[in-house]
Amino acid sequence: MIRITFLMFLIGLIATPSVKAASSNYPLADADVDLSDKASLYRGAKTFMDSCASCHSAKMMRFGRIGEDLGLSEEQLAVLMPDELSKPGDVIETNMPADYAEETFGIAPPDLTLSARVHGADWMFTYLTTFYEDPDTLWGVNNAVFPLVSMPHVFAAEQGVKQPVYETEGEGEDAKRRLIGLESPERPGTLSEEEFEEKMRDLTAFMVYMSEPAALLRAHYGPYVLAFLFIFTLVMYLLKKEYWRDIKH
Ligand code: HEC
Repeated sequence: MIRITFLMFLIGLIATPSVKAASSNYPLADADVDLSDKASLYRGAKTFMDSCASCHSAKMMRFGRIGEDLGLSEEQLAVLMPDELSKPGDVIETNMPADYAEETFGIAPPDLTLSARVHGADWMFTYLTTFYEDPDTLWGVNNAVFPLVSMPHVFAAEQGVKQPVYETEGEGEDAKRRLIGLESPERPGTLSEEEFEEKMRDLTAFMVYMSEPAALLRAHYGPYVLAFLFIFTLVMYLLKKEYWRDIKH
């Protein structure tokens, strides 16, 4: 038994994708997404198409599926699709050529279909809200949970660029600066902090849904299943009482 457990542990180690981005211990914010809020998911889908799909694909997601799951009209779905030639059967593709992307960013922007499942909702929300100013990097920004990320701060205009607060660890040549917090941007963005976080919450919700569309069904059926179990337990309890009533014990 122990050997089997150990074997499974080893397989787990090998099968777990190494997540470079997780190498930060910056505290994660609570994403607090609500998958039953379809208006929020739709807003998130729109943000994804407007601000992310220019660089990232999501090749396991079809527009038609989004339309069905979110109960969208044809017009609402058309708003999400790249152009009038798009069909519901199309997946989310980026039109940025991979070699151009690699040249520009040093790495091709990865497909994002499963990203929220790999990293978790809280990580995703924190990632999207913690780009900060760092003149030592390619784009002049860094990220609290993805150090030295090569993605630009796509919402710099909306959020502004947050300012880092560092703490120095060690002394002399070994001294290392560690990010311990972020302060408000010097020049505020076009959105208030609450508005921006709301927008990122919607976007995170869409990405969580996209990474596991079945979760939407679970959120939908969950309460019914619980209600059924409750009533079933009650019936069983009453039946038990009924059966045992005439038995002397
Ligand atoms: C201008 C191009 C560009 C745009 C626009 C862009 N990204 Fe990125 N993104 C990148 C690049 C390049 C990377 C790879 C970063 C690295 O590995 O250092 C990346 C990485 C990521 C990652 C980390 C993925 C992983 O698992 O390593 C996430 C998550 C992500 N982007 C989400 C988004 C979202 C959400 C949007 C829309 C708001 C977006 N990106 C818009 C270029 C872009």
